[in-house]
Amino acid sequence: MSQQFQHDVLVIGSGAAGLSLALNLPGHLRIAVLSKGDLANGSTFWAQGGVAAVLDNTDTVQSHVEDTLNAGGGLCHEDAVRFTVEHSREAIEWLIEQGVPFTRDEQHGVEDGGFEFHLTREGGHSHRRIIHAADATGAAIFKTLLEQARRRPNIELLEQRVAVDLITERRLGLDGERCLGAYVLDRNTGEVDTFGARFTVLATGGAAKVYLYTSNPDGACGDGIAMAWRAGCRVANLEFNQFHPTCLYHPQAKSFLVTEALRGEGALLRLPNGERFMPRFDPREELAPRDIVARAIDHEMKRLGVDCVYLDISHKPAEFIKAHFPTVYERCLTFGIDITRQPIPVVPAAHYTCGGVMVDERGHTDVPGLYAIGETSFTGLHGANRMASNSLLECFVYGRAAAADIEAMLGEVGMPTALPCWDASQVTDSDEDVIIAHNWDELRRFMWDYVGIVRTSKRLQRAEHRVRLLLDEIDEFYSNYKVSRDLIELRNLAQVAELMIRSAMQRKESRGLHYTLDYPAMLPEAMDTILSPR
Ligand code: FAD
Ligand code: SIN
Repeated sequence: MSQQFQHDVLVIGSGAAGLSLALNLPGHLRIAVLSKGDLANGSTFWAQGGVAAVLDNTDTVQSHVEDTLNAGGGLCHEDAVRFTVEHSREAIEWLIEQGVPFTRDEQHGVEDGGFEFHLTREGGHSHRRIIHAADATGAAIFKTLLEQARRRPNIELLEQRVAVDLITERRLGLDGERCLGAYVLDRNTGEVDTFGARFTVLATGGAAKVYLYTSNPDGACGDGIAMAWRAGCRVANLEFNQFHPTCLYHPQAKSFLVTEALRGEGALLRLPNGERFMPRFDPREELAPRDIVARAIDHEMKRLGVDCVYLDISHKPAEFIKAHFPTVYERCLTFGIDITRQPIPVVPAAHYTCGGVMVDERGHTDVPGLYAIGETSFTGLHGANRMASNSLLECFVYGRAAAADIEAMLGEVGMPTALPCWDASQVTDSDEDVIIAHNWDELRRFMWDYVGIVRTSKRLQRAEHRVRLLLDEIDEFYSNYKVSRDLIELRNLAQVAELMIRSAMQRKESRGLHYTLDYPAMLPEAMDTILSPR
């Protein structure tokens, strides 16, 4: 039997964005935080490098703003950049208060005018400003925030709950546009339950799983973007898919990320013959923004017909490497690569979705009562290419801002009543799950081949044709069979892929992460690609 629940705030997603929002809401509110797998299954847990923020006395807000604008290829919204950077210090102070064990600076303390925590560097940053917990920052942050959330009796943490679709007044045929909650598949019972809420928050992460090779965990399927689109929200800049330059190249490594902080601490990129190549591509060499480094690697791999390039930090003392990069060191060692003595084979892989659901500074989407925060949102911060370690920062700044906004709106919004249950009367159990598996593979492969690091109009047209066929097939399947996590994710991935392709086809220039051989130049005016479902 499906069930009905009511909460003041329904938070879909238990990563950095969802947890920081929940922890910043008043303690008297009933809050549900959902995760479609276990609570740790988002990207947050896997984040390595750290969080960018203005912390050191010698750094400035203006410098962080300028670096972000430069990395973003002229497309960042300066007001969003400034808002985020200006709130960066207080976001980090809040994390420190929660107990996140950031790595301390053993050499330079506050007494030298420095900062008590170690700050590293990454691509695009002109300053050391990445606070981190060795090379497992995401895990340290996630565990701390989860522990805090577990101590709060008003926060229910619900695992194995997959949001299927948002419930809006429009969907129910009522007057108005408000979001009233969501239908959620409980994977333990197989039933779709109804979650009514005064406020609903999408904190569902990105969509990098749309590509065959990705640094992201399995759940990064763009569910929030697809649900918001179906509910009537505009989306923006979905053609900007970031490829991380350095994922471990090994048949069993499943795109394990090798953090950019290695390059921040002096690691060099080399061809198979040992030659460096980044100086030929950008004066910032290995610390150029990510779009430039990934494209340079892709270019060299295609030019030489090689399967990977190499990242070499073996010139640094072994003790330094093991202390700063214990996760990368251990992981590479399991594949027989000792990074203190050998270069690491690396390739680019899909990493981050720069576009998303359009929101304002408080996380409001176009649908009243519906917020979007974290990687699923489009705030204008990242422009055409996200600068390293600005993503976690965005999760905390906007998670906290949206929480403050909800608190301010509490007096104005009541609990929705009498929501209809999910109707499963017309569907049966599927006996053709092979179609789901096949379509997953097909989608991810053609997105990799046709909508990857280097694009052409012809490749985009091919992808568009295929995604439309898939969408029809998935729609038919969805109308006839009971929902499962795989089907929900496939439906969302295909929807988001279609939006990405459509956005890419609209951009008749090369800018940041969108590079097309048919329009290699950048247009004089920077414009967002905004798609509207209405
Ligand atoms: P996530 O942490 O991805 O969480 C998404 C949540 O939504 C999960 O709980 C998931 O279960 C839930 N969810 C999704 N769909 C549904 C659904 N339909 N129903 C119910 N629940 C759902 N950024 C940095 O700034 N610094 C770094 O060092 C860094 N390193 C990274 C390293 C790796 C390997 C990866 C993959 C990313 C890295 N990033 C980094 C990016 C950053 O980690 C992410 O952008 C950020 O963690 C996203 O947080 P989030 O809260 O928006 O989503
Ligand atoms: C990394 O550690 O290289 C990832 C940083 C990021 O994605 O911001």
